[in-house]
Amino acid sequence: MTVPVDTVLINNAFDHQAIRSQFPILDQQLDDNPLCYLDTAATSQKPVCVIEAMTDYYQHDNANVHRAAHQLSARATASYEHVRNQVKQFINASRTEEVIFTHGTTESINMVAAGLSKQLKANDIILVDSAAHHANLVPWQQLAKNTGAVIKPIPLNEHLSIDINAYSALLSLKPKLVAISHVTNALGSVNDVSQLVELAQQVGALTLVDGAQAIAHIDVDVQQINCDFYVFSGHKMYGPTGVGILYGRYAELDKLEPLLTGGEMIKSVSFDATTFGELPNKLEAGTPAISAVIGLGAAISFINGLPKAELLAHEQSLLSYLQDELRNLGDITLIGATAHNIGVVAFNLAQEHHQDVGILLDQQGIAVRCGHHCAMPLMQQLNIKGCCRASIGLYTNKQDIDLFITALGNVKELLL
Ligand code: ALA
Repeated sequence: MTVPVDTVLINNAFDHQAIRSQFPILDQQLDDNPLCYLDTAATSQKPVCVIEAMTDYYQHDNANVHRAAHQLSARATASYEHVRNQVKQFINASRTEEVIFTHGTTESINMVAAGLSKQLKANDIILVDSAAHHANLVPWQQLAKNTGAVIKPIPLNEHLSIDINAYSALLSLKPKLVAISHVTNALGSVNDVSQLVELAQQVGALTLVDGAQAIAHIDVDVQQINCDFYVFSGHKMYGPTGVGILYGRYAELDKLEPLLTGGEMIKSVSFDATTFGELPNKLEAGTPAISAVIGLGAAISFINGLPKAELLAHEQSLLSYLQDELRNLGDITLIGATAHNIGVVAFNLAQEHHQDVGILLDQQGIAVRCGHHCAMPLMQQLNIKGCCRASIGLYTNKQDIDLFITALGNVKELLL
């Protein structure tokens, strides 16, 4: 979607500044420069309500969940379980037991990979998106090492999203599992995950969708996507670090071997034998990140209260404005599709090293990520060592883009 930036920002029906002002961190100077935060894809900033919800929990309700007879524990447990229900509704899961709290996307994928260890055997095929974040590749490599399964990368098309023809050809090998990104973290390319899942199901493959980069930008409906597993992190959707979600279709989730065992996940324990409890507890051993879960609940309430359609149009208009300004600057290579991106613009400045560009931008108050973006196989396919990535969130405004372009112009003048 391309919407002229001025149309959205000038004629908008919503008060963008009021939304931005909920993020106190943005209002600061770095040396003499205003902070310009364009690294939301790495982690989003947090609104006041998320920070306050966590402080409030520690000030009034702090206790362990599911354990004690006392009132504090009852309150903490009620708040914690309320968030599970919020997540269920947010992603349209069919049961609350299908929502497992983890510590982040990486842990969620590791739980599925380790959990499938008894279901895969030698020579079973696992298809993995070749633009995947390392978190959606390395756990499958470990699973392959432990079971003798074989990983095959799914090639990309010219837009650097999954190539449907190559994917269909690979599906004829009857893979046991398909692991794909909803939106790639390095480039922001969007995959049609519903279609990819449908094709995988026709050959009986399990499907896992990494939604870490999608969840803050796209309305996710796991029943519509119809995947077996969908994973994401709280910190990329304006919530805190330390909490993530593993959504799983009940029957598939229930078949996973627990990665972590110990307290809270059992039905009975003796020195002779232990029986595991039911979902979701079975996959939530130990004390969870209670305050982070409560912060995630506040983030969901915050997002639910926003004008979503306007904000999406706002983000998309900023993204196309950013791409246009980068093109106008000259000596910039934009990497990946620019028409189907969400949240991210990846680029390099002439032949300059991305880290040099990042450091010189930082000296002017601009925060971007530079490097391989935890996607080394993708960088190898692109034949580059890395790139710079500017990423936006719902608080990003036109001034951020203008500050960034001016600063990059200064870098260009200095280096070229
Ligand atoms: N996965 C995060 C990123 O893409 C850290 O930057």
